[in-house]
Amino acid sequence: MTDVIDRDAVQAACPMHQQSESTKVSDDAVAPHNLDALPLPPLVEGGLPFIGRGLEVMKHPLKFMLKYEKELGDCYRFKVANREYFVLSNVDASEFAAKNGREYLKSGALWADFAKEWDMPNQMLGLDGEKHAKSRRLFKSKMSKNLAVECHQKFEEVTKKVVGELQAGQVESVRDLTRYLVNSLVSTAFNGSSELIDKQFAIDAIDWQTQTFNIFVLKKWPRLMKWRPSFKRKGKAVWDYVEKTIAEKTQNPGDDFASYVLELARNNPDLFETEGDLKFNIVAPLFAGADTVGTTSTFMLHELCFNPSLRERVTAAVDKAVAENGGAIPSPEFLKDHVPELYGLCMETLRLYPTAFSISRTATQSFAFKGYRIPKDSEVLVVTTAAHFDERFYKYPRKFDIDRYSAPREEHKARYAFQPYGVGTHVCLGAGFAELLFLTLAATIIYHFDFEVADPHREYQQIFDPSLGIETGFKIRMKGWRH
Ligand code: HEM
Repeated sequence: MTDVIDRDAVQAACPMHQQSESTKVSDDAVAPHNLDALPLPPLVEGGLPFIGRGLEVMKHPLKFMLKYEKELGDCYRFKVANREYFVLSNVDASEFAAKNGREYLKSGALWADFAKEWDMPNQMLGLDGEKHAKSRRLFKSKMSKNLAVECHQKFEEVTKKVVGELQAGQVESVRDLTRYLVNSLVSTAFNGSSELIDKQFAIDAIDWQTQTFNIFVLKKWPRLMKWRPSFKRKGKAVWDYVEKTIAEKTQNPGDDFASYVLELARNNPDLFETEGDLKFNIVAPLFAGADTVGTTSTFMLHELCFNPSLRERVTAAVDKAVAENGGAIPSPEFLKDHVPELYGLCMETLRLYPTAFSISRTATQSFAFKGYRIPKDSEVLVVTTAAHFDERFYKYPRKFDIDRYSAPREEHKARYAFQPYGVGTHVCLGAGFAELLFLTLAATIIYHFDFEVADPHREYQQIFDPSLGIETGFKIRMKGWRH
């Protein structure tokens, strides 16, 4: 695959070492007395008339940002059409966002059109301040790693059913397969059932989600795209699913996520002001979790297909762990602590292919970063994953090396060096859950199935739609069950 991340050429969020927000970067550094006299960060020059650097940014935003970090340092600006972005990159930027983000950065402006379109003023990603903190408190325990531990046997069962639907010799799009699989797993965890989600619904729901981002959040697509019949049809399917869930759980509440949200809505009118708020919170785990885990799984399968020695090693380690556990996939906590080859595979996939590689914010007031002035109301991009490609933290950073996470190396433990789940006030609420879900999914596929890339001679491009992914042409051929 050609990538950013072209390997031959080029902490707060990590569930393992969450960092404290208590100590701020010194006030003098962030708000010096001579703030107004500081220069603006250097501008990425050139580009086409009107759209500026738009084409280059849209093609591969992460590659663009890493390139200009190298040229201009950890703070610079670029323009796309009539918008200007202020980039804060690498570990100091992550530290700034973690420690000073509450005071100087906000999330609401980015999500305003999205929230307005579906009348959901209190969707978590678009909230700031006390309301946001309250929303996180209410949902935290329901998206925790414990949920993945409780559900791991169901995850194995569902993964076997979904991937086992493929017949020997059948060729399948990996993107469709992982969308179907992860939507089914997330819905198993949150609805408590082992029934598979409808495959076409799973694929369409994520299409709708990514198109929604492109139209209303990133504004990469014009607003009139919302009238496209296919977009409307997919959106209707999602909202019908939510309405059906609400009707069912109102009648028969259970010990599941949707019933919990209905209960929250009754007791917290400040966070559930509209029907849109209720509907969005019901679908939030699918919205936040399915594309991210699905795309990460696609990258993992790509790596396994094109790296036979890696695959052999991880497969042997998983086979051994399963045999010692009486033929069942061990708990994800065991996999994390005792199968370093598998853990390294998952961590290395998250490091080299960070689907959410930066976070977008607006400056609530002017501040200084690296001696430059970031004016109030600027659009700010914090490239939280720039450190993933930095040789100061990772030896031969472009190399897929599953041993870098084990003692004594533990390269990911350097300050803010591993940030696939973001950083600061909005750091992924499902990070612990996602990590353990991903380990179980990976172990189950590796142990039970044999597969190969359908076209080994093709190079698969990375795409942005809007998160980092692999082009849809990447397909596998099922060879059959291993166990
Ligand atoms: C590989 C998987 C995942 C990755 C890489 C990932 C990444 C992220 C990132 C970078 C953010 C921060 C966005 C920002 O600051 O603007 C975020 C937020 C969030 N994630 Fe995840 N995520 C993953 C899986 C999940 C899962 C499985 C769930 C839940 C089931 C989840 C729930 C959330 C929620 C609720 C937020 C919003 C938190 C807030 O606004 O305070 N994520 N995620």
